[in-house]
Formats: sequence, structure tokens, C-alpha cells
Amino acid sequence: MRLEILEDEEAMSRRAAEIIADAIRGKPDLVLGLATGGTPVGTYRELVRLYREGRVDFSRVTTFNLDEYVGLDPRDPRSYHAYMEEHLFRHVNLRPGATHLPDGWAEDLEAECRRYEAAVEAHGGIDLQLLGIGRDGHIGFNEPGAPWERGTRVVRLKPETRQDNARYFGGVVDAVPQRAISMGIRTIMHARRLLLLAAGPHKAEIVQRAIEGPVSRHVPASILQLHPDALVLLDESAASRLTRVRPGAERGRG
Ligand code: F6R
Repeated sequence: MRLEILEDEEAMSRRAAEIIADAIRGKPDLVLGLATGGTPVGTYRELVRLYREGRVDFSRVTTFNLDEYVGLDPRDPRSYHAYMEEHLFRHVNLRPGATHLPDGWAEDLEAECRRYEAAVEAHGGIDLQLLGIGRDGHIGFNEPGAPWERGTRVVRLKPETRQDNARYFGGVVDAVPQRAISMGIRTIMHARRLLLLAAGPHKAEIVQRAIEGPVSRHVPASILQLHPDALVLLDESAASRLTRVRPGAERGRG
């Protein structure tokens, strides 16, 4: 696991977007794994800027998102489908049909999980997967205790996660769906490269546990320590509880 610490969230977002754009330049038909939530918003803004400046071309890229809530119509503005349209898809030249999210509106959720996992495999797996981290250490919606050997599956969200995401549901925790479809830890670990982003002081404690603590199912993100090509980008505040300067850690200039 490599680590880069950037001055602030904006610098982290610029760096993340550069890494993704570089990966697309190196492999124009990249299979790109995407995340939602607050953290990658700046990264998507930067990617849109690079696209408008003619510095990245999405025309042959395929995307797979990590997760989607169960029971939300994809057209619901609170769905991750809508989030991705708003922050990235409608601003760049991704082909119609090249973007994939689990369908949390599907009648048969188990069949939908199998379909999604098979679609990832049919595209040859994910080349580069973008990740955020929940305050409880979740990646995708794989909460503490999640099995590592499972692919895409239906998951139950922990109260802390629903609380954190209530901001997208008018501040009403009960309005946040209780379940989601998420890529499993196995799906994520099969990606050839992982890029985890974390910014802000509220992420400092879990970042310290995930990076410096033992690899444990109680902290799902700690499994990144076992991935052969995982890069973690942090801003100064998310890195503030780290106690060791790890080999390979760099201070980015942003
Ligand atoms: C989102 C996802 C989640 C978020 C995590 C952090 O697709 O899979 O793991 O990355 O909940 O969310 P933010 O960025 O809002 O702090």
C-alpha cells in the first residue's frame, strides 16, 4: 500500500483526477470503478475540467459503480444513478451503455447481484477502482464484519452509515434505505489497481486504523494493505493521526 499526503482536499482531488486521466491515456478502454459520496465530488469536477480541456477522452471507457441503495428508483434524485449523472456522466463523453450501477430497484435482488458480478467479469475485471472510506471503515457498503470472499451482494447498512448519509435524505435518518447492493470485498480486491481517497479530520481516526492497524474484518478498508497495487491519497487532516511515516509515503505538492 502506498500513501500520498496532499495539502488539502482540493489538491487531493486534483491528484486523484490526474491519476485516473493518466490511466485512461495509458489504456483508452479502461474499466474504471467509481464511488459516490462526498469525497469523490472534487475528483469528478477535476475530471470534467480535464475532459473540457481536451486532456482526457472517455469515449472507450467503461465504468462500474461500487453500490446503489435498494428500493430507490434509479431516477430518484437521491439514488447513486442520479449522483453519477449529476457529477460526471452527463458532462463527459462516456458512451450510452458504458456506465454500470447495480439496480437497487430490481425485483430479484439476488439475480441482480449475480448479473452485476458477471458484467464486471465479462469486461475483464476492473482496471482501476476508486474508493472512499466510511467512518466505520467500510469500503463500498461492506460494513465491519463483511465476508472477504464474497462478490456483489445485498448488504444491510449500519446505523452510523445511515446517519452519515442522512444529509442526502433531508437529514432524516429513517429515510435512508436500510439496504444496498454493493460490490463485495472480493470484487474490489480483484481490481488491478485501487485508489482510496480520504479527506477531513472526521476520517483521521479510521484512516489511522485502516493503514497502521492490523488487517482485520472489523476494519474492511484494512484489507487494502494486502493488495499489490493500492494507493491511498489523503489530505493533511485525514492523515493527522498517522503515527508512522511509512516507507513510500510521500508528501504531495498538490
Ligand atoms: C460510495 C461508497 C462508500 C463511501 C463512504 C465514504 O459509493 O461506496 O464506501 O465511499 O461511505 O463516503 P463519503 O465520501 O461521503 O465520506
